[in-house]
Amino acid sequence: MTHGVRLARPDELDALPAIEMAADQRFRATAYADLVAGYPTTELEDFVETQDRWGLWVAVDAGDRPVGFAHCKPVGRGTVYVAQLSVHPDHAGRGLGGRLLDRVAAFHGPRGVARLTLTTFRDIPWNAPYYARLGFREVPDLAREVFLKRQIDEQIRAGFPAASRVAMQRLL
Ligand SMILES: CC(C)(COP(=O)(O)OP(=O)(O)OC[C@H]1O[C@@H](n2cnc3c(N)ncnc32)[C@H](O)[C@@H]1OP(=O)(O)O)[C@@H](O)C(=O)NCCC(=O)NCCS
Repeated sequence: MTHGVRLARPDELDALPAIEMAADQRFRATAYADLVAGYPTTELEDFVETQDRWGLWVAVDAGDRPVGFAHCKPVGRGTVYVAQLSVHPDHAGRGLGGRLLDRVAAFHGPRGVARLTLTTFRDIPWNAPYYARLGFREVPDLAREVFLKRQIDEQIRAGFPAASRVAMQRLL
């Protein structure tokens, strides 16, 4: 099956919540199953906003239908925050997550973006260790990262153990 990666079109946004929910099923076998299940998924309005701002990229199957996405927000100071990366389990394990992030980097880097950032689980194999293989590193000083710190604080308030969360960046 040949997959591609491209910008999302407005008529595709309705398909994305189901992909995110299906991808999150992967957490069912982890210690964070209940937390992830109880955490809100991306609002449609959020997808609309990032689609308008070159922030929503989809992996598509051979029929050009979305099977994964990267939902990214410009958050100022040369930073694009990867708010969500999801690949439908039927299409996982083919490197699509990495291709999505490479495409985001290739688009935004030449336009002056200096780094991609994200927050994730430290101890889930397809989270921090996976992102490390894709060139992400833990941010050196979270206390100075106003936006990222706010994300982590919100996640802790929602019940995520503080020690489980990490903020990472990939320099472009
Ligand atoms: C993280 C995610 C986007 C990776 O997408 P992907 O296209 O499958 O990425 P890859 O093909 O590079 O596979 C990632 C790893 O998961 C493994 N994997 C993929 N599908 C798997 C499956 N069904 N069962 C077990 N392992 C699997 C791959 O072997 C690979 O491991 P490796 O890097 O050691 O080879 C995807 O797993 C996902 O949507 N997860 C749920 C949501 C999530 O965790 N998002 C990130 C939150 S910050």
